[in-house]
Amino acid sequence: MNIGLFWIFVLLSLAYWLCHGIYLIVYRLYFHPLRHFPGPKLAAATYWYEIWQDWFAGPYHGRNSWNIEKLHEQYGPIIRRAPDELDVTDPEWFDVLFAGGRRDKYNREAVEGGDASGLIQLTRDRTRHKHRKGALTRFFSKRSVVQLEPSIIEKVELLSAGIEKCMTERRVLHATDAFGALTLDVITDYCFGERYGCLSDPNFSPEWQAFFRDMFSNSPFLRSWGWIVRKRENLPKWLLRYIFPDVEQLLIMKDTVRSKIDAIFEEREKAGVKDGGLTSSTGDVDVECVEKERRTIFHDILDSRVLPPEDKTKWRLTEEAYGMVFAGGVTTGVALSNLAYHLHANREWLIKVREELDQIMPDPNKLAGSSEIERLPVFKACLKESLRIGSLFTERLAFQEPDEYLYYHDWAIPPGTPVSMSICTLHADKEIWYEPNEFRPERWLQGSGTTIHLEKYYAPFSRGSRACIGSK
Ligand code: HEM
Repeated sequence: MNIGLFWIFVLLSLAYWLCHGIYLIVYRLYFHPLRHFPGPKLAAATYWYEIWQDWFAGPYHGRNSWNIEKLHEQYGPIIRRAPDELDVTDPEWFDVLFAGGRRDKYNREAVEGGDASGLIQLTRDRTRHKHRKGALTRFFSKRSVVQLEPSIIEKVELLSAGIEKCMTERRVLHATDAFGALTLDVITDYCFGERYGCLSDPNFSPEWQAFFRDMFSNSPFLRSWGWIVRKRENLPKWLLRYIFPDVEQLLIMKDTVRSKIDAIFEEREKAGVKDGGLTSSTGDVDVECVEKERRTIFHDILDSRVLPPEDKTKWRLTEEAYGMVFAGGVTTGVALSNLAYHLHANREWLIKVREELDQIMPDPNKLAGSSEIERLPVFKACLKESLRIGSLFTERLAFQEPDEYLYYHDWAIPPGTPVSMSICTLHADKEIWYEPNEFRPERWLQGSGTTIHLEKYYAPFSRGSRACIGSK
């Protein structure tokens, strides 16, 4: 191509880009169905407003969630947070959005170009999500979790031994690493039959928690450039390492999960089940395989009679596995270290919890079962309060009602509009929780009337059809 033609091409591209940008801004400000909703004009005009707040405005990444709180103070309970999205802050409306019907879930990183995610928590379409969740419910039922108790006890004992070793050697114990190691070993052993052995490491494998911190602090960036998440497998290693400095953990996770899935497919093929059972939903093959080894979530997904074949591919199984490690491994570890922190920072509650535990566990070497622990009122109150005050999901969760208008007072929200709300804000509402930023377990002990009233505004595991599958 000659130089003149090249520059004409560049100039035309720039002119097109500029005109398209101006058209978008004018459309979004003056003709868009959400144009009447309150909020800053910049947020209505461009997604760069959120990117700026999240990524560049500092002092930390992911600041936009808190910026939205400020916008609510200025513009009221419903705002246009981005060109096509609204946000509501009103505890009374939480159930309308989260549990008022089976809605589609909206995740900007997952929806660009369709419902591209294989993870249950990022699945947009409500029917597809229902099938995916259905395939896992038996695995996470109360009964299955009770059966898991001996395996959990074995790991708690490993954790205690590790903590004692730390104390004898007078080493500082990083609680998040220690509890993270416990939950990661429990989840990976339970879900994939492949424990990562974090508890056997004298420092509780801190690289895993570093990796999760990386992933979460990068999530605002990834929300705006979701293709990076979807193409992460194909990205050059140098770019992956730049985005996630502790990416080795992702690669380890990928290898262990892949080899497990390959082994299951191989085993099933040997047993005469084509494609590991991909065709089961059509009824072509009977995949009630009697596996010699313990069942994993992969077995349940492959054996599901409602999931279509495309939901049983190796890619999808790997995605679901990543989802489990992130959803279960991180949250529970952080929740346990939060609880440990609050009990030590409020020693009067630590003493009360110990007294309760002494009653059901006079011999500390003989651990009580979960059904006994669940009945301890003070312990339960401390756990609930810790989950409230340390709400783990700071991200605002967004849903779409695809077919009908949603109504927030006089505001009619067009079908398909993503509307988000925050569990964190719900748990810190001054009208509902006195001293919301203080650890006050007594609020859960003040007689059933008060507790029932508070339950309505308490949702650490979210609510409705998208609520946490691992809350048991
Ligand atoms: C204290 C611990 C936990 C907390 C506070 C928690 C909280 C939550 C919340 C708030 C959601 C909704 C997120 C969203 O809509 O994007 C969620 C979803 C989910 N959680 Fe948990 N979680 C915990 C532990 C676990 C465990 C142990 C597992 C299992 C391995 C798990 C698996 C999941 C899954 C699969 C979803 C997606 C459910 C769906 O989309 O229907 N979580 N969790």
